[in-house]
Amino acid sequence: MSFQNEVIYQAYIKSFKDSGENGYGDIKGVTSKLDYLSKLGITMLWLNPFYPSPQKDNGYDISDYTGIDPIYGTIEDFEELVEEGEKYGIGIMLDLVLNHSSTEHEWFQKALAGEKKYQDYYILREAPEGKEFPTNWQSKFGGPAWEKFGETNKYYLSLFDKTQADLNWRNKEVREELTKVVNFWIGKGVKGFRLDVINLIGKDEILIDSTGDIAQEKSLYTDRPIVHEYLQELSKNSYGKYPEIITVGEMSSTSIESCIQYTQQKNKELTMAFSFHHLKVDYSDGEKWTKAPFDFLELKKIINDWQLGLSKNGGWNALFWNNHDQPRAVSRFGDDQNYREKSATSQAHILHFLHGTPYVYQGEEIGMTNPYFEELKQYQDIESHNAYKLMRTQGKSHKEIMEILQEKSRDNSRTPMQWTSEKHAGFTKGEPWIELAKNYLQINVAKELEHGEIFIYYQNLIRLRKERKVIQLGNYEPILLEHEQVWAYQRNFEEEELLTISNFYGEEIVVDLSKDVKPGDWKYVLGNYGERSFKMNLELAPYESISFIKK
Ligand code: GLC
Repeated sequence: MSFQNEVIYQAYIKSFKDSGENGYGDIKGVTSKLDYLSKLGITMLWLNPFYPSPQKDNGYDISDYTGIDPIYGTIEDFEELVEEGEKYGIGIMLDLVLNHSSTEHEWFQKALAGEKKYQDYYILREAPEGKEFPTNWQSKFGGPAWEKFGETNKYYLSLFDKTQADLNWRNKEVREELTKVVNFWIGKGVKGFRLDVINLIGKDEILIDSTGDIAQEKSLYTDRPIVHEYLQELSKNSYGKYPEIITVGEMSSTSIESCIQYTQQKNKELTMAFSFHHLKVDYSDGEKWTKAPFDFLELKKIINDWQLGLSKNGGWNALFWNNHDQPRAVSRFGDDQNYREKSATSQAHILHFLHGTPYVYQGEEIGMTNPYFEELKQYQDIESHNAYKLMRTQGKSHKEIMEILQEKSRDNSRTPMQWTSEKHAGFTKGEPWIELAKNYLQINVAKELEHGEIFIYYQNLIRLRKERKVIQLGNYEPILLEHEQVWAYQRNFEEEELLTISNFYGEEIVVDLSKDVKPGDWKYVLGNYGERSFKMNLELAPYESISFIKK
């Protein structure tokens, strides 16, 4: 198995399956569903953080990198998961948060207690004369990026929540400690790592004020050249020694150029990278907390630029529509009321035949939707609550904000996995930590496996990727880029050509392919309305996706 053949499934462990009654998903719950995951055909399973954590940011605030939070189980449970996974040919990918630790981590606590050694594990600075903070940077979750460091006159940098303190990668000891963490988990049989916001680890020695422009500000701590050095060093001393291990960097506000460099195999940094520009096409003026229709041409253009940029330069994309930080794509770009199944399969089709490694986020394979929470208290996410407060101060009404949260909150994808029509959708026997989407009686795994069309479609997409070199390795070429309703592209590998055409909307259309597609013996491969023959004037039903192949 090489990385080009993988399909990776993401389980947001907290919401996946509770084997007990505490209302949180857990490791044993994941193990009990390996059989289900193997039916889908995936080869690797990414688990969101399950380490001891105060859970201020759902586990992305780690207080012990080599432990397991008791709410999720024990190290023995984890060993069992790895072992069982192997039987199914499913490797386990861990999520490591190496940019910052929880302020409850022993290192931070020792630093607070005055130990100089540990104070140098974090980014501590004094505020210059006459200034409130060391720099004017804003935290990604709102408010200043600096917090007072105990009773001292210093501040510590926290680019996310104030309980997530940025680690000082300039300190060699910090790098060595974090390398040990990676090696610890490799020793437990882990086969992949997802590295959280890894392109933020390279802060400059001297930190300076931004102009106030947010893009300029991010550039002061994002994708700094030294990140490449740190990654090469980490790789050399840990995962790079094991060619089968897969790494994916989560890249915050990154660029194509940087990601080429991170993922060119010869550089020995990372296998692939997640970027997020395509999931900002429904932001108004770059602002997430707005309600705006998505810009289809922009969406296609961004994906196209990344496809071309990385595939032509030996880079590798991680492909995804959904994750635990994003609203559900079927609600966002599809029609989860009138064409839920067709829009779910159509989106999957577009993504899975692109150049890169596809990721399936839990519930996507059964067409789970946003939950449309109506009350603020239903939201658990710290980012949503901060955003609510901020929007109130900006003068938005409660109603307006609730509508924005229904579209943009990260909790939209964090509701429990819908397994059955039983109480709490079979997710837990206790009280779930977050409410379920009300539609679990209609949308759940049991129903889907009985008579749904989405799960089967994912199975087919995944099977075809494993079978066809053109899907794994083929060149990517766009067609009909300016078309306002249709998404289409071609892939070529040796003599083989693959053509994918998709109607991204709910209105039928006839698309003229004669200018863009060479005639020939195009054979049907897969489509979400079933088999039919190729025509230069191709009619597409609502949310129809179809692929043809030519040899
Ligand atoms: C990543 C995670 C997100 C988390 C943040 C800070 O973006 O995916 O959930 O809040 O990093 O660790």
